Amino acid sequence: MAETANRLICASADLANSGKAVRFEATDAHGHVVSALVFRYQGRIFAYHNSCRHIPVELDLTDGEVFDLTGHYLVCSMHGALYHPESGLCVGGPCRGQRLTPLNVSERDGQVFCVTAAARGDTEKNGER
Ligand code: FES
Repeated sequence: MAETANRLICASADLANSGKAVRFEATDAHGHVVSALVFRYQGRIFAYHNSCRHIPVELDLTDGEVFDLTGHYLVCSMHGALYHPESGLCVGGPCRGQRLTPLNVSERDGQVFCVTAAARGDTEKNGER
């Protein structure tokens, strides 16, 4: 199993159920820095690239407000595509059937981390396997 590295994103207490998401920067498969969101839904945390599958704009535009009024779907602020928070599947709108790009996140000791494959020289390595 490959080693992983954890990068601190925020405190667990920053993520309320169906509440405001926390924005952070992640690296995509090509090594480009991309905008990302982490949020809590029904007690669990999830993270995705902050990019709509219809047009690659940020879902929340600026502020982490990404849940719809029901608190059960993520909504794109541009044209209203609805995504299921657990799967990232678009269930309504112009990109129905497509999925947000997921990111690995973990939560321990009251903190939320982005989990990535460890690069040589990473200082905070995760020894858990
Ligand atoms: S850009 Fe998100 S629904 Fe059109």
